[in-house]
Amino acid sequence: MIVPAITPNATYDFADDVRAGLSRRGQKELPSKYLYDDVGSALFEVISYLPEYGLTRADERLLRRCADEVVDLLAGLVAVAELGSGSGKKTRWLLEALCRRHPTSYYPVEISRSALLMCERELSDIDSISIVGFEREYLDGLLEVAAHRQRNQHLFVMFLGSTIGNFDRDAGVKFLAEVRRILEPGDSLLLGTDLEKPSVQLLKAYDDEIGVTAAFNLNLLARINRELDADFDLSQFAHVARINSQARSVEMHLESKRRQTVRIPAADLRVEFAEGETIWTESSHKYAAKEVFQMALSAGFSCQAQWIDEEWPFAENLLVAE
Ligand SMILES: C[S@@+](CC[C@H](N)C(=O)[O-])C[C@H]1O[C@@H](n2cnc3c(N)ncnc32)[C@H](O)[C@@H]1O
Repeated sequence: MIVPAITPNATYDFADDVRAGLSRRGQKELPSKYLYDDVGSALFEVISYLPEYGLTRADERLLRRCADEVVDLLAGLVAVAELGSGSGKKTRWLLEALCRRHPTSYYPVEISRSALLMCERELSDIDSISIVGFEREYLDGLLEVAAHRQRNQHLFVMFLGSTIGNFDRDAGVKFLAEVRRILEPGDSLLLGTDLEKPSVQLLKAYDDEIGVTAAFNLNLLARINRELDADFDLSQFAHVARINSQARSVEMHLESKRRQTVRIPAADLRVEFAEGETIWTESSHKYAAKEVFQMALSAGFSCQAQWIDEEWPFAENLLVAE
């Protein structure tokens, strides 16, 4: 059964965030959540099939392998929330394992309406599932899911795909602590974390040969043109992936190929770019497997189990709220 997605209560303002990010002194930046409009969500789906981007396949291999073990470790009846579900393809393995035991309510929380619709379509054929989507930011959505939980249910939250890596390390722990505050003792969080790997492999994963990741990144400027009436000339910006070895992350930037001025009327903004200047659009932090135990503790969880994919180093971590 699918209950139609709950309509958004937008708590963010694209124009304000674009103005703030592009008028910063020093490094210009835009929040990565804006990469995911309809076009961006469709392009991310294609990225997940690219040979260079092994992350999604590793995550899926692990979920398939550990689904029954995870369900065995969960405390009794659960309601399931997924933060940033995307298409929900990989989540099928866990939901099927849960639904084999009990009818299950699944609440995907997504900022992208088209991703949420994809997810609902993808998973609606599972027996004994009820799906209610929340078009919300992560924590707003989770608060609403927590308000829907029944007294005899634990919450089981999933945050897959190493989306945690889009936060810098300290902000990632703060985010997990915010999630913990919404949960009750005994609730669980399944956290996917991409592990450190050689720079060459990472750079290819974020700058593929046929240019899908470049299109995903450049679509952010196209989105500003579409929604804020701006005049970015996309041919004058280039997608760049960079390793930040100090932060242990891969960064995506959009680099201005020449000196230029861009007008963004709906944000009441005129932006000057020097040749070679970049807009920082996303970071993907990479982890050591052991590091996750400390992150969990700092945020008020304990790590009950960890599964690692050896082919594309990636860890699935089952955290329990203390
Ligand atoms: C890296 S993708 C991962 C998708 C999926 N979980 C996977 O593993 O393939 C991140 C997803 O989170 C969503 N997202 C990004 N920022 C968000 C936010 N602040 N609140 C809710 N959803 C967000 C995006 O729309 C996107 O679908």
